[in-house]
Amino acid sequence: MNEFSDIQASRRAVLKAGAVSAGAAVVPSLGLAQAAARPAGAPVLASVSFSVNGKMQRLDVDTRTTLLDVLREQLHLTGTKKGCDHGQCGACTILLDGRRINACLTLAVMHEGAKITTIEGLGTPDRLHPMQAAFIKHDGYQCGYCTPGQICSAVAVLDEIKRGVPSHASASLVEQPLLSPDEIRERMSGNICRCGAYSNIVEAVTEAGGRP
Ligand code: FES
Ligand code: FES
Repeated sequence: MNEFSDIQASRRAVLKAGAVSAGAAVVPSLGLAQAAARPAGAPVLASVSFSVNGKMQRLDVDTRTTLLDVLREQLHLTGTKKGCDHGQCGACTILLDGRRINACLTLAVMHEGAKITTIEGLGTPDRLHPMQAAFIKHDGYQCGYCTPGQICSAVAVLDEIKRGVPSHASASLVEQPLLSPDEIRERMSGNICRCGAYSNIVEAVTEAGGRP
């Protein structure tokens, strides 16, 4: 079980916990009379502020809205993709306070003060992030739908290796070179590619990490 896997909770558990905590934070500010008057199922709005790609955003969000939907639908940052919307494909991977996370598995209202980086914030067409450049060089994609999540995940993988965060494989195989193809495959296993560009993705991550 690696750090990324630890972050994964079932969508049901996260939504349930988030709904309870968010509701507890917001409903008292409405006043008991207002809360009682609110029709069942009506949205509860809350303000949240966080930085996205270096720009502070203050938003009023429905407390049930995932971070993925806020990024795509309120901030129009559609580079982050929605594949399964259930924490199974990795298409929605972003960096939150430097760690990778599935944006479909977390509620936006839970991230007051967070620093969020999406694929749009990693590089620009004129100044690509080294991981973006490596994906292009090695054809680490076909249709490209999974690619933003793959790249964000890969950036975090290199950081995890640098910080000595063990993966499931490296914890049991102490002598395993950290940037071996097996190790990269293990650490990237939460990102699914329906086009099957896996071998080229491993090549790209290997190069961006400094080919041994
Ligand atoms: Fe989030 Fe698939 S869309 S993991
Ligand atoms: Fe098409 Fe990965 S490039 S799903």
